[in-house]
Amino acid sequence: MSLMLSPVSSVLRQSARFVSAKSELLASILEASSTIRGIRPSSTSSEVRELFQSAIRGFAKDRGRDLYFPFLASGLGSGPWVELVDGSVKFDMITGIGIHFFGHSHPALIEEMIEGLPSDIMQGNLEPGIEMRDLLRALLSRVGEGSRLAHGWLMCSGTMVNEVALKIVRQKKFPATKVLAFKDCFAGRSTAMQEITDNPGYRQGQPTYGEVFYLSFYDPKLGLQPSVDRTLTEMREHLTRFPGQFALLMTELVQGEGGFQYAPRDYYVRVFEEAKKAGLALWMDEVQTFGRTGELFAYQKFDLNEFVDVVTVGKMLQSCALLYTAEYNPKPGLVAGTFSGSTAALRTARRVLELLDEGKFLGEGGRIERLSAKFVEGLESLRVGNCKGMIGEVRAIGGMIGFEPFSGTMEDVKAVLMKLFDLGVIAFYCGHGPYLIRMLPPLGAMDEDHIEQVCQVIQHALTEVDRQRKGESSKEKV
Ligand SMILES: Cc1ncc(COP(=O)(O)O)c(C=O)c1O
Repeated sequence: MSLMLSPVSSVLRQSARFVSAKSELLASILEASSTIRGIRPSSTSSEVRELFQSAIRGFAKDRGRDLYFPFLASGLGSGPWVELVDGSVKFDMITGIGIHFFGHSHPALIEEMIEGLPSDIMQGNLEPGIEMRDLLRALLSRVGEGSRLAHGWLMCSGTMVNEVALKIVRQKKFPATKVLAFKDCFAGRSTAMQEITDNPGYRQGQPTYGEVFYLSFYDPKLGLQPSVDRTLTEMREHLTRFPGQFALLMTELVQGEGGFQYAPRDYYVRVFEEAKKAGLALWMDEVQTFGRTGELFAYQKFDLNEFVDVVTVGKMLQSCALLYTAEYNPKPGLVAGTFSGSTAALRTARRVLELLDEGKFLGEGGRIERLSAKFVEGLESLRVGNCKGMIGEVRAIGGMIGFEPFSGTMEDVKAVLMKLFDLGVIAFYCGHGPYLIRMLPPLGAMDEDHIEQVCQVIQHALTEVDRQRKGESSKEKV
């Protein structure tokens, strides 16, 4: 529950003028948003199209690099649909890499932003606003039975909360500093996180400090026992080679960038028990999985509450946080930073947590689980039906939904992503070969019909790419 607001602020927000201006503003935004009701091609005016193209070219020039898609949001959308500045509307199945779980222009979130208007724009650690207190309380009150997480810190990026997670564990475990992580993991792109991230392509020209060692992850083809044996053998080898030097094991319970791979609970239990025995801290990077697997925290989905020493969250929360046990509470001076977030982000983050509860999204039989099953059913029926031979594996858990187009090469993925974009669906990729089409859809704003419509566009895109490929190979033969 929120603390009582200060008298002036409270009087202002309850005043007739503020209340009526708020409802007018909200009504006008929602009226505009309600006109966005499905995929729309770009404006028919060649002048608008040329202005759009030139804005995209100018932005790319300023960035020194092309955009992945010719995408510039207009600032308005409606549920799963996002409007671009050329007037086109797309089904947004990746939401800026999983940020807008409740879709675009969500009334309850806009209302929070309006409520936050009288406040300062940004907040930080020295002079926090009530919003910081409320968000941290809301997170800590949801860590689940058996969890030992007791404190937390709010920051503005997943990479930054990960940095702090690493720092607080290293401080506690000093002089042990080394990190165990799983192959194919992703942790961000700061100097430390790029070394943890298992992708040398993301750290070209950067030094590494010999601090990170990788373990093979669960492999469904191997099965449970051989996967556990392989991981534990590697862990023991590393621990024996550098005795007393490892501080922690970092785990993405569902690998995001790595291709939506995850293990059964027993695998995690056996690996975590061994890691604990070796004195390692267990840090879960849930920046991508938070709120998405069907439980608020992925460790809850796998019933691993007791094991977690530190967890980091971000993306769909609209804010980023690390939560940790009392044991890992750092010494003063280790953690600070000017910004903890914008007032709008902190308010909407708290509201996102409430909306997940109110809309019955979480838990067994919850909305995430049901919509996820519908997505998988749609993709599986394409795989064996109209798109036979065009879809390899379908891999999904909750609101993390992926499929392997054709043979899962980067070329296949890119061709399908570009075709999808042209046809009005935005998605992205993940995996390290095979590559998958990655969707982090705004399930908070979707129903079964939307999913069917998206699957129809996927069918269309795959069929077109297939036809083009066949056309090209028959031309080659001629
Ligand atoms: C698992 C994981 N950790 C960390 C990050 C980095 O978060 P951010 O991009 O907010 O810095 C990401 C971002 O994709 C992620 O998926």
